[in-house]
Amino acid sequence: MGKIAPSILSADFARLGEEIRKVEKAGADYIHVDVMDGHFVPNITIGPMIVKAASSVTNLPLDVHLMISEPDDFIKAFAKAGANIITVHAEAATHLHRTIQFIRDQGARPAVALNPATPLDTLEYVLSHLDMVLLMTVNPGFGGQAFIPEVIPKIQKLRRMVEDLGLNLEIEVDGGIGPDTISRVSAAGADVFVAGSAIFYSDDYEKTIRLMRERMVPLS
Ligand code: DX5
Ligand code: ZN
Repeated sequence: MGKIAPSILSADFARLGEEIRKVEKAGADYIHVDVMDGHFVPNITIGPMIVKAASSVTNLPLDVHLMISEPDDFIKAFAKAGANIITVHAEAATHLHRTIQFIRDQGARPAVALNPATPLDTLEYVLSHLDMVLLMTVNPGFGGQAFIPEVIPKIQKLRRMVEDLGLNLEIEVDGGIGPDTISRVSAAGADVFVAGSAIFYSDDYEKTIRLMRERMVPLS
């Protein structure tokens, strides 16, 4: 069964603890945390202190998406703060293989994200070391952007690669995901669905998550 990962980027930060508890109760599987540095992406969000605070209010895995340059400099701090999954962007890592090992050495599960324009080939020689691949379905930096449909064949291709190699890794999609787009991305082979505005801007988190599950096409 696919997993739903609400992105707290669209939560009410003045009531963050309450918002996290609410999505946990509403059936979330992961809590997705978007870290932006104003350099790799044109926006600044949160750091390890908030991850630490978030980890104190939930038992769900914290899925920390680092949209930062020089990710190696901060992996240790995020792992210490309670990040369970740490995702780095292939575009931001100079020695990607080393960075992946470093995440695992810090006791977290390593994942790599690719921007919509970045080819899958980038992952060919590291795929077997990963627990998850994040395919961006918008250009990173902001919540509430429109889903980019050109990523669909990329999801299909990655799913085929994962199956051909017999790997056990999750394929996460992030950006413009919600009840209207989940059928297409799940049918293509994604199995972790990040949703920020679709969940946190809805009136009823539980209803939105339920609707997303109903519209998920399970992997065959
Ligand atoms: C975008 C972030 C996303 C963002 C998704 O740079 O990585 O996680 O929160 O927001 P929505 O679901 O609103 O597109
Ligand atoms: Zn994200």
